[in-house]
Amino acid sequence: MKERMKIAVLASGRGSNFMALAGACREEGYPAEIALLISDNTEAGALVFARETGIESVVIDCGPKRGSMSLESSEEMYRLCRKRRIELVCLAGFMRIVKGRLLEEYAGRMLNIHPALLPSFKGLHGQKQALDYGVRYSGCTVHFVDTEIDTGPILIQKVVPVMEDDSEDSLSERILAEEHKAYPEAVRLYAAGRLRIEGRRVLTSDE
Ligand code: GRF
Repeated sequence: MKERMKIAVLASGRGSNFMALAGACREEGYPAEIALLISDNTEAGALVFARETGIESVVIDCGPKRGSMSLESSEEMYRLCRKRRIELVCLAGFMRIVKGRLLEEYAGRMLNIHPALLPSFKGLHGQKQALDYGVRYSGCTVHFVDTEIDTGPILIQKVVPVMEDDSEDSLSERILAEEHKAYPEAVRLYAAGRLRIEGRRVLTSDE
């Protein structure tokens, strides 16, 4: 049997995208497995799920500065990922801007999911930004991570309508349901070696 690609998920909170990825990895023939969950938050729901399902998890202190990570923690994550032979790092609600060794070593091998149709509504609260702006459609984006925030080449986007009576919560919920499909699809394509980056464009080859 072909060895599955080992992935690490970085999550700070609830972890529903981590759970969706873990669910996909349990499907027969799925080309990836989650070998590691890393969190910066001891209270993360993702950690509970990892423990319940036997996925190795670690908490790494990323420093006191909100949204940022210390270079030491980046180095520590990189070393751990290398030790576990991680080939793809998936950010899933990881509330720190990744920099340093981890980002350098995993350039082109790190993905993020964002709750809006990039390049619109980057950064925090993508759903609220879309609602406030008055767009008729929003959605989610899985993209490669580069040195800026939410700017890397786009792998997959899914679109949802914005309803007139939407609240931030109801729109977030509709987007989240699509996130849970988009991330496993993106990881499947990556792990199956079906992606090629040309400039800003990510091209997909047939199976
Ligand atoms: C998701 O909306 C994701 O797009 C954003 O953070 C949220 C994480 O949710 N980056 P969860 O922890 O995966 O449930």
